[in-house]
Amino acid sequence: MTTTKMFSVKDTFGLANAPASYVVEGFADASHPLIPRVDDLYVFDRVLLRDVLAFLAEPMGDAMWIGGPYGAGKTSLPTQTFARLNWPALVFSWHKRREFADLVGHQAIMNGQTQFVHGPLPIAMKNGYALVINEADRGDAGELVGLNDILEGSPLVIPETNEVIHAHPKFRLFVTANSMGSGDASGLYATSIQILDPAFLDRFRFVSVNYLRPEIEEDILEKVAPKLPELIRENMVKVANEVRRLFIGGSDGGAELSLTMSTRSLLRWARLTIAFKGAPNAVGYALERALTNRAEPEQREAIHRIAADVFGDQWDAANG
Ligand SMILES: Nc1ncnc2c1ncn2[C@@H]1O[C@H](COP(=O)(O)OP(=O)(O)O)[C@@H](O)[C@H]1O
Ligand SMILES: [Mg+2]
Repeated sequence: MTTTKMFSVKDTFGLANAPASYVVEGFADASHPLIPRVDDLYVFDRVLLRDVLAFLAEPMGDAMWIGGPYGAGKTSLPTQTFARLNWPALVFSWHKRREFADLVGHQAIMNGQTQFVHGPLPIAMKNGYALVINEADRGDAGELVGLNDILEGSPLVIPETNEVIHAHPKFRLFVTANSMGSGDASGLYATSIQILDPAFLDRFRFVSVNYLRPEIEEDILEKVAPKLPELIRENMVKVANEVRRLFIGGSDGGAELSLTMSTRSLLRWARLTIAFKGAPNAVGYALERALTNRAEPEQREAIHRIAADVFGDQWDAANG
């Protein structure tokens, strides 16, 4: 997998306006099992992609932090980039009981013998894979500090096996999180988000991913659910954005909803509306199954009220 290959940004990422001379390095072997699968519906944002590609080309000892709200596309940004560039990647979820040692590996019994099994960090470092740590702000503040030395260029030392693992030149570290590492200003994730170590955060380039622009989400919905009338698709995107606005909260920070509609839930809503098209209230019925059946009753009512407002007569007709 060490053979590299140059990719045209215009053709590889579907960026019509990228100059023909803009090429980036990936790998020739498309068959590696750790290459993420291509999502044909994924749309690259020009600015975010440029940041990711610049980082992949020249990390300069940094890692990349991708912040943004729940379900906006933080993880897909790097993984869909890897999918296009044949870059093998390991994706690991962080949470409050995770320890640095989980990244390094663990002892296991194999054929009656105790053996040390490498975790995602040494595997990625040794082979030149990308490592994506999701929800990096959910764990104990001190645990990820162990990555500092590696970002500085020091090898990983595994005391259990006396191994010294140097980072391959193609090793890249990404983390995703709802915050930017310095705590949760919104109050939405107050109980789960940790304030991370400033020395750790100082090793990162930060980008923030937001929900897709309405035109782009409408295009994706058209691909996923071409049978839905355009007006219904547009209204679904409007409802999603209104729900997100109330979830994120106004300038006073007060959020009125504690659940939101990710792009994933929106696509599910559209697909289910088609699946239940025979039902008298297919749009509302599908909305319950896509999102609101897991909401508190008042929130569920509030979201259905938003939908009724946005859909207007269409909603009354659909629910009549
Ligand atoms: N740029 C995009 N184009 C198309 N679909 C997207 C895009 N970004 C996100 N999605 C959709 O949203 C879903 C959630 O994205 P994900 O990366 O898992 O979000 P997060 O990591 O922020 O929770 C994806 O599975 C995908 O279906
Ligand atoms: Mg994610």
